[in-house]
Amino acid sequence: MTYAHGPVHSWDLRYAGTDRLFPAEPDEALVEFAAGLQAGRALDLGAGEGRNSLWLARRGWKVTAVDLSQVALERLDAAAAKEHLVVRTVVADMEEYLARGEHFDLVVIANIHPVPTKRAEILEGAASAVGPGGHLFLVGHHLDSLGRAGPPGPERLYVEDNLKDAFPGLQVLRLERRQRRVGDGAVPLLDVVAWAVRSLREEGSQ
Ligand SMILES: C[S@@+](CC[C@H](N)C(=O)[O-])C[C@H]1O[C@@H](n2cnc3c(N)ncnc32)[C@H](O)[C@@H]1O
Repeated sequence: MTYAHGPVHSWDLRYAGTDRLFPAEPDEALVEFAAGLQAGRALDLGAGEGRNSLWLARRGWKVTAVDLSQVALERLDAAAAKEHLVVRTVVADMEEYLARGEHFDLVVIANIHPVPTKRAEILEGAASAVGPGGHLFLVGHHLDSLGRAGPPGPERLYVEDNLKDAFPGLQVLRLERRQRRVGDGAVPLLDVVAWAVRSLREEGSQ
C-alpha cells in the first residue's frame, strides 16, 4: 500500500466501527457492462473495501484502488491476499491522485457523491484518466433514493441530467436509472448508472 494522505479520515472511523461497511458483491451494472471487456489497467476511485476492485482483479485486470481510508484499503489488501490477487492500493484523495495524469482502460467511480462544487472537477478528472479506447463506469444513488441511501443532502445525489455532459472527451453509451436490490429486496433503491468510452482516435489526431 502506498500513502499520499496523512491524517486518519472520518471514513476510517466509519470503517473501523464495523467488520464490513458495504456489501462484498461487485456492483451488478459494472458486472453487466465490463464483463465483455478485455482486461487491462483499471482505476477504482474511492474503492472502499474493494468489492469492485477484487471482481476486476479476479478477471485479470491490473487494478489500482484509491481511497482516503487506510482502514478500508487494509481490508482490500487482506481480501486480495487471501485470493492470491494483486491489487495496488493507494491511500490518497482521488483528486490528488487524478492530478498525476495516469491513463487507464477502465475507470470506476462507484457510490461517490461529491458536493456539487467538487463534482464537476472530480468527474472531469475521472474522464481524463480514461485512455484511448477505454471506458468509464459510474454508479451512484438516484435523487429518488433520498433518505434511504447515500448522503443526506439532495444536492449530492444523482439524476441522469447532471451526468449528461459530465465526462468531457468521452461518448456516453448508457445513462440510466436502475434498481438496486438490498437486504430482502422488498423495496429496491434507485441508482444512476453511466457508461462512457473514449474513442480510439482522438479528434485532431492523425
Ligand atoms: C460509499 S463508499 C463506496 C466504496 C466503493 N466504491 C463501493 O462501491 O463499495 C465511498 C468511499 O469513497 C471514499 N472517498 C470519499 N471521498 C474520497 C476522496 N475524495 N478521495 C478518495 N476516496 C474518497 C471513502 O473513503 C469511501 O471508502
